[in-house]
Formats: sequence, structure tokens, C-alpha cells
Amino acid sequence: MKTKKILINTLCVTLPILFASHSVLANKVTLKLAHNLDQSHVVHKALAQMAKEVQDKSNGELKIRIYPSGQMGGPRETIELIQNDALDMTKASASEMESFVKEFSVFSCPYLFDNDEHFKKVLFGPIGKTLTDKTESSGFKVVASYVAGTRSFYAKKPIHSPNDMKGMKIRVVSTPTTNKLIELLGASPAPIPFGEVYTALQQGVIDGAENNIPSYNQTRHVEVAKFYIEDQHTSVPDYLIISNKAWEKLNENQRNILTQAAKNSEIYQQKLWDEEVTNSRAEAEKAGATFIQVDKQPFRDALKPLYEEFAKNPQLESIIQQINATK
Ligand code: GCU
Repeated sequence: MKTKKILINTLCVTLPILFASHSVLANKVTLKLAHNLDQSHVVHKALAQMAKEVQDKSNGELKIRIYPSGQMGGPRETIELIQNDALDMTKASASEMESFVKEFSVFSCPYLFDNDEHFKKVLFGPIGKTLTDKTESSGFKVVASYVAGTRSFYAKKPIHSPNDMKGMKIRVVSTPTTNKLIELLGASPAPIPFGEVYTALQQGVIDGAENNIPSYNQTRHVEVAKFYIEDQHTSVPDYLIISNKAWEKLNENQRNILTQAAKNSEIYQQKLWDEEVTNSRAEAEKAGATFIQVDKQPFRDALKPLYEEFAKNPQLESIIQQINATK
């Protein structure tokens, strides 16, 4: 009698647990996320924090495995993997999103933002949301937006004005807008993947490139292009995306946990960014970089025709007007 009671009690305790753990097992999902940034980059740190939060809050039911440093290729390749359902998540800059949703090209408009505050109001406000809502027909959804400071030129020789750029070969994230931008400065654009820029600079295939200070420092491009010219021509954000198919695999609880963790990663990344710029500048200087302050007006003047291009497309022109009105 006593043994029977013990058995019933044990079953009462263990059965629900077994049952629960079975349903947990049935919903277990591991998402693969690949990106091309170094593990010391603040976007990687924000993604790592998000992965931890997701795992903790879902009691291990949802996991994100991160493959950093271009292990699965650059954004072109990882977006393609996403579209073929061979990868779940990746990070892509607005320039890299341009071939899917033309409207992301507005971020390549030179000197569009007055300051960081203006940029953040656009990125995290209604304009940013309207842009990110447009990707689903391309097979993916944006879950987070990350600031990426300003992009400036860096080269093997000093540049003080667009005149010094004549005939130079400059690496860009190649899009119709970025290519035009380089051409307007009298240089020629070179469409080289991020991970191959160091060698291209070293071998003299290109004379320079353009990026924000953290990427200039973390890629060690500073070793082969000592002059960083602070012309700050564009502010191009990064995005975290998930394939529609991976999103559909998640249950509602998992979606909520991921959405919240992705939002928290945006806040964390912004918190880290400014400090990262200061540290990267100091490290680059230690590695021999010379930072050159320039008068931005000649750059603005040379790049004005890009605005005329945008004005030809009423949809893009309207976004630019909305951005100008968001101050
Ligand atoms: C920045 C940006 C990346 C981008 C890279 C590039 O580092 O954060 O998303 O891939 O520039 O120039 O390719």
C-alpha cells in the first residue's frame, strides 16, 4: 500500500515534468547567424548579448549560434544563403540591402544627417520602420538596426580635398549610388569584399577605401593605409535580418523573446559605439595612423549631383524630404 502511494506520488511529480520537457524539446530551435565583422566589433558584442538573453529567457528552448568574421562569406553570400534557407540570420549594411529594397540607398546620400541625434531619429523612428517593413517580399525580416557612425576615406597618401582623389582607386560596398559618389570625386570605385580589402591595399590593387573608424582599426587596414581623412561623407547603418522561413519556425513565445532581445541589443550597441570610436582612434594612432581634418565643403559641392539623381525618383526624393523634415 505504502509502495503504491509512493509510486503514485512519484508519477504525479515526474509525469508533468516529462511531458513539459517533451514539449520543450519539440520546440527547440537553434538559429544560425553569420556575419563578416570581427569578434571585438560592437555589433558582434551586441549579437552575443542577444544570443545569451534569448537562451536564458527561453530556458534553452531557443539558441542562436554565431559564426563571425566572414566564416560564411560576406553579406552578399550570407543573404543568398538566407534566401536559400541555408542560414537563418545575418547582418547587412544599408548599402548591401539596396539591391533588395532600393529605398535603402538614401543612406548613401552624402551629408544627409546633421548629427548623430538626427540619424538616430530617422533610423529608429517611423522612417526607419517604413524602410525595414519593405524587406519581407525579398524573403527576410529586419529585427534590429545598429548605428555605424560616419564613413570617411582612408588611403596610402594624404587627401585634403577632392582634387587629391583624382585617378585614385577606392574600394566601396559597390552600389549604383556608392559608385557614383566615388566617380563624382574623380576617383574610380573598386567593388572588393570587406575581407579582401587588406590584401588589395597591401598589393596596391587599390589606393584607398572608406569606412568608420572602428572598422578601419579592427581590420588592421591602418597598417597598409596610414591616412584617415575625416570627411565623414555618409552614415550607413547595419541591420540584423532573419529569413521569413526561420521566423515561421518560431512559436509566439520564441518570437517575443527574440524581438525583445534584438531591441535590447540595439540599445547596448549604441551604448558601446561612442566609446569604441574613441578607443579605435587611439589604437589606430598607436599603429601609425594620421587623422586628417578637412574642409567638408568641397566634398559637399562635388557630391551635389547625387541629390539630382535622387530627385529624379519621386519615391526616394520623398524619403529624403522626410529625413530633412525630421530634425
Ligand atoms: C562596416 C559595416 C559593415 C560593412 C563594412 C564594409 O564595417 O559595419 O556592415 O560590411 O563596413 O565596408 O563592407
